[in-house]
Amino acid sequence: MPKLKRTHTCGELTVEDVKKTVVMTGWVNSSRDHGGVTFIDLRDRYGITQIVFNPEAGEELHRNARILRPEFVIAVKGVVSLRSDETINPNMETGKLEIIADELELLNRSETPPFEISESETITSLEIRLKHRYLDLRRFQMQRNLIFRHKSYQIIRKFLDNINFLEIETPFLTKSTPEGARDYLVPSRVNQSKCYALPQSPQLFKQLLMVSGYDRYFQIVRCFRDEDLRSQRQPEFTQLDLELSFIDEEDIYEIIESLMAKLFSELLEIDIPTPFPRLSYKDAMDSYGCDKPDLRFGLKIKNLTDLAGKSDFKVFTGAVESGGKVKGINAKGCSKFSRKDIDDLTASLADCGAKGLAWFKVEDGRVLTSSIAKFFSKELQDEIADRLEAEPGDLLLFVADKDKVVDSSLAQLRLNLAKILNLTKKDDFQFTWIVEFPLFEFNSDMDRFDSLHHPFTSPRSEDLSILDEKPLEVKARAYDLVVNGVELGGGSIRIHDPEIQKKAFKLLNIDDESARSKFGFLLDGLKYGAPPHGGIALGLDRMVALMLGLDDIREVIPFPKTQKATCLMTGAPSAVDQVQLKELGLKIDD
Ligand code: AMO
Ligand code: AMP
Repeated sequence: MPKLKRTHTCGELTVEDVKKTVVMTGWVNSSRDHGGVTFIDLRDRYGITQIVFNPEAGEELHRNARILRPEFVIAVKGVVSLRSDETINPNMETGKLEIIADELELLNRSETPPFEISESETITSLEIRLKHRYLDLRRFQMQRNLIFRHKSYQIIRKFLDNINFLEIETPFLTKSTPEGARDYLVPSRVNQSKCYALPQSPQLFKQLLMVSGYDRYFQIVRCFRDEDLRSQRQPEFTQLDLELSFIDEEDIYEIIESLMAKLFSELLEIDIPTPFPRLSYKDAMDSYGCDKPDLRFGLKIKNLTDLAGKSDFKVFTGAVESGGKVKGINAKGCSKFSRKDIDDLTASLADCGAKGLAWFKVEDGRVLTSSIAKFFSKELQDEIADRLEAEPGDLLLFVADKDKVVDSSLAQLRLNLAKILNLTKKDDFQFTWIVEFPLFEFNSDMDRFDSLHHPFTSPRSEDLSILDEKPLEVKARAYDLVVNGVELGGGSIRIHDPEIQKKAFKLLNIDDESARSKFGFLLDGLKYGAPPHGGIALGLDRMVALMLGLDDIREVIPFPKTQKATCLMTGAPSAVDQVQLKELGLKIDD
């Protein structure tokens, strides 16, 4: 058993503690010898404190100090002293002080770690960090991220508890939830040939909790989705999940806006103005090409389909004739872009399907120049320049194609231009609600309607009369919360009338039998006095990353997975024992 017991952490001492005898524990951050004196920077999650081993304190003590290597674990007893003026480290909380050691206990040795923990910047590849995540998490940066995350959870819990929310858990071993991804399945041993699905969200359970009368529910909960991963997505991620009864959209907006304002003010001392602006799905798509626009900058997209159709430029007229469109962006002040700059921009849109990027430079007198200018009459050029509010020095950029390609390409072009032009600031947070989503979208691959959110989303009451004849015009009572181009959350007011639910299923081509087998329990529950209800879920990994100015949510997840959904530390997923498979009644085809 260790002899020395910690009295103070490495971030705790102040000048008040000078002359006190203290015991500190932690990891050797660095060590150096100076004129026969050994200095150790001792680290724990609270900070760093300098320990001084003087030869006069005893030969054995000094000898033992000299064998200390980075990441050795030690306990040290000594007296707190003020550092001499010239050795004060103004970058550290504890930089005015040091401990003159008189006792040292080596608690454990460490092999040389695969990367230096003491470096404050990220110093190695993500693969190595993930493989040795226990070491990566020892770095101050990661500790700061996880501590920040912890604090956000405490604020959320306190805030919601204060306004009558109850934290209630829902099962992980359950049935499929319709959130649009593939399920992770867990085969049952006791019930051979049957599987549980890990929840994609607690959606169905939280609605049933409303039926049970828990009118304000929340949960900080893991969700599991087998989907294509990107920097903002993990196969398991955490939601702040809410559901409320006897409310409408305005109640949800107000609660979430106050919660966000509180989190930002308490954690970042940033004042987030409320209420948040609202943008219809249509306006978002028209002006930004996507439903999660970054509103920190303008660069609005303009529709030029009508004008493009009047030109002699085959690319434009061809797109218009085949039912597509032509849209453009005014890249303000970018007329100095070189051919190569424009080629690079064009290449960066290839993934979105853009076959090219047409451009005009706006010269003095608003004269448009381009290799394609000859296909546009002077009048047409003027109309284009007017529509894009062009001024000398601007660069006008266009994509012509099918709607989806044009929207996604120009949405991407906006982001790329903003990056090149340095238009975003990390501490600027532009929140917006995206509202008035269509209830359905047409899935041309499958020749059917799909829900834009999920099948329990309520249509607006004023649209009920057109549900049958014009389903694509029906608007949903759904909303997304978007910040700086990130979809932070989404939710809706739900259908609580079994007749409307039936109609929605019918339009979605979900027949009675499959509705019963998939969510019979929810439909049954809704029959027994379901109150009007609705809710929302926020992605907490995204929220914390955004607040910390990090682009990759893995920086705020202790043990994340790779883009291929593997864990480099544990090796999961891994092959399993034949015996285990047999018990489950499973056979795996190689
Ligand atoms: P939705 O599917 O929009 O809604 O999810 C809510 C929020 O969760 C986050 N999110 C993710 N974060 C990281 N990795 C992922 N793979 C991932 N998928 C989603 C996003 C998203 O906005 N049951 C509904 C909510 C409701 O209707 O109340 C739901 O799950 O930030
Ligand atoms: P081309 O006729 O192929 O020489 O192209 C002339 C210009 O039109 C180039 O700047 C191309 O990048 C651009 N272009 C080609 N296809 C498209 C498209 N679908 N949308 C917008 N611009 C395009």
